[in-house]
Amino acid sequence: MSLDKKLVDELINITSRASIACHSFIGKNDKMSADKAATDEMRKCLNQLDIDGKVVIGEGELDKAPMLYIGEKLGTGKGSTIDIAVDPLEGTNFAAKNLPGALSVIAVTLEGNLFNAPETYMNKLAVGKDVPKDATDLDFPIEKNIKNIADAKNKNLENITACLLDRPRHKEIIEKLKKLKVNLKLISDGDVSGALLVTQKKYNIDIFLGIGGGPEGVLAASALDAFNCNFQGRFLFKTEEDISRAKKMGIDDLNKKYNLNEIIRGDSIFCATGITTGDLVNGVKLKNGKYYTETLVTHKNSFIDIVKKEVAIT
Ligand code: FBP
Repeated sequence: MSLDKKLVDELINITSRASIACHSFIGKNDKMSADKAATDEMRKCLNQLDIDGKVVIGEGELDKAPMLYIGEKLGTGKGSTIDIAVDPLEGTNFAAKNLPGALSVIAVTLEGNLFNAPETYMNKLAVGKDVPKDATDLDFPIEKNIKNIADAKNKNLENITACLLDRPRHKEIIEKLKKLKVNLKLISDGDVSGALLVTQKKYNIDIFLGIGGGPEGVLAASALDAFNCNFQGRFLFKTEEDISRAKKMGIDDLNKKYNLNEIIRGDSIFCATGITTGDLVNGVKLKNGKYYTETLVTHKNSFIDIVKKEVAIT
């Protein structure tokens, strides 16, 4: 069963509107207000859609953001029953500080096809479609993953580039990558975008890895699935609260490694609109009384595209 094609345009419109809502907060050094503006607009727009929607990936405790919470029902209740993953403002620091790479992101599947992820960290690994599915694994030593990627791509290790969040927790991996002479792209935030850099040769990223937000992992996985790339994730539950929340969500094996097809199944739509210009898409532009947005769209059963949109100010 496929998702209704008209949802594609509707979702592009929603991430565009959420991005526009956030536009006036770019560079105001106020990430909570920027997040709230995008979230409120996204909620308003989703509630106008003829869908029977439920948020399975929402914002929340990880950064105490104003949230579209897990379990929240959205839409008029009239159309198809769908699961929704949202990150109205991915890269709150980017928007607040007027830095490249802030996005407004949404992904949907039919009911039951999107993993219900808790608000916790996730260890992630993503590679492009030119790497055989069994060549990399979260449980392989980093050296083995890198060597297998190099073999699959017929590249020297010095020509491999790994992307990961620049965090103290990645010190050991970074040291190992340096020893292998692998090139690094260390990002300060925004690992949905980071993971998607493995999707196309033009970004020159051979592997995305490391620990970031779990919800961001599920969102990235939904686009990676449409690009036929590979992704694995393992949640990290640090506190008793994390553990009890995971158990309530039905996660019994806290150490489970999730493959892409366990995170997302069937047809899906993913939209990421640029709030500030980044690697994937341009940010919102305001010209002669009109907003212009750019959205990376994947609809698994039909297409992948960058869609430009013009929105008049109302
Ligand atoms: P926000 O947009 O919620 O601020 O998240 C930005 C982000 O960089 C995510 O892309 C990433 O998954 C997460 O934060 C990493 O968390 P931390 O900053 O705690 O390492």
